[in-house]
Amino acid sequence: MRTLRIFVIAFIGVSLLAGEAFAGYAVQLPKSKITKSMYLDQALQMRRSVHAFNTKKVVSMQQISQLLWAGQGVTGPNGQRTAPSAGAIYPLKIYVLNKSGVWSYAPKEHVLKMVVAENKIAELSKAALAQNFIKQASVVFVIIAYPGKTTLRYFGRGSRFVSLEAGHVAQNILLEAVSQGLAATPVGGFDDLYVGKILRLSKKQQPLYIIPIGYSK
Ligand SMILES: Cc1cc2nc3c(=O)[nH]c(=O)nc-3n(C[C@H](O)[C@H](O)[C@H](O)COP(=O)(O)O)c2cc1C
Repeated sequence: MRTLRIFVIAFIGVSLLAGEAFAGYAVQLPKSKITKSMYLDQALQMRRSVHAFNTKKVVSMQQISQLLWAGQGVTGPNGQRTAPSAGAIYPLKIYVLNKSGVWSYAPKEHVLKMVVAENKIAELSKAALAQNFIKQASVVFVIIAYPGKTTLRYFGRGSRFVSLEAGHVAQNILLEAVSQGLAATPVGGFDDLYVGKILRLSKKQQPLYIIPIGYSK
């Protein structure tokens, strides 16, 4: 769709570390829009974790854009985001899995950067203790953290802050999903190492939350 104005920004990438060579891309997301689709209290009333998605209905790029903005969008003059962060450190990142691959979200540029050019949703479902409903999702977000960024300043307390922040981000996404007519489920049961392998995470990164998103069945 022309209005979405998705265009590919050149960025040459050969991922030797990943053990596979692919051309990497960054996709400019369509601008997020502030709509009056639903009052917050309606979204709170309607939010429900679902365990069956309609596999025939696809979440659009505009909706993905909106969901990412809700989770980590930049809204303040000093880079502040939709979700609060202890010390404004912002140690979290959202990874996105769809049929074309695994992407990481860059909030400032509102861009998706390709990480793996392959559909990894089924494998992620396996890593999430074979919770098979994840496979039915049109798109899956994974909130990951760089805990070291926050523990550097707040020491032991920093780990707690990072988990609290993931909760803020997840709830924003869950409520935005409802306001878009979508359903999303927070999933905390998964094998960290396996998820890390799928997303090509470094040792400094930790997966915290998986959020499959789609139309409820
Ligand atoms: C920290 C956390 C971890 C969760 N992990 C899972 C999970 O691994 N699989 C799942 O199906 N639901 C998971 N859920 C969703 C809960 O099962 C769900 O929130 C609960 O049943 C209440 O239902 P509701 O979300 O519709 O209000 C998790 C929720 C939270 C807050």
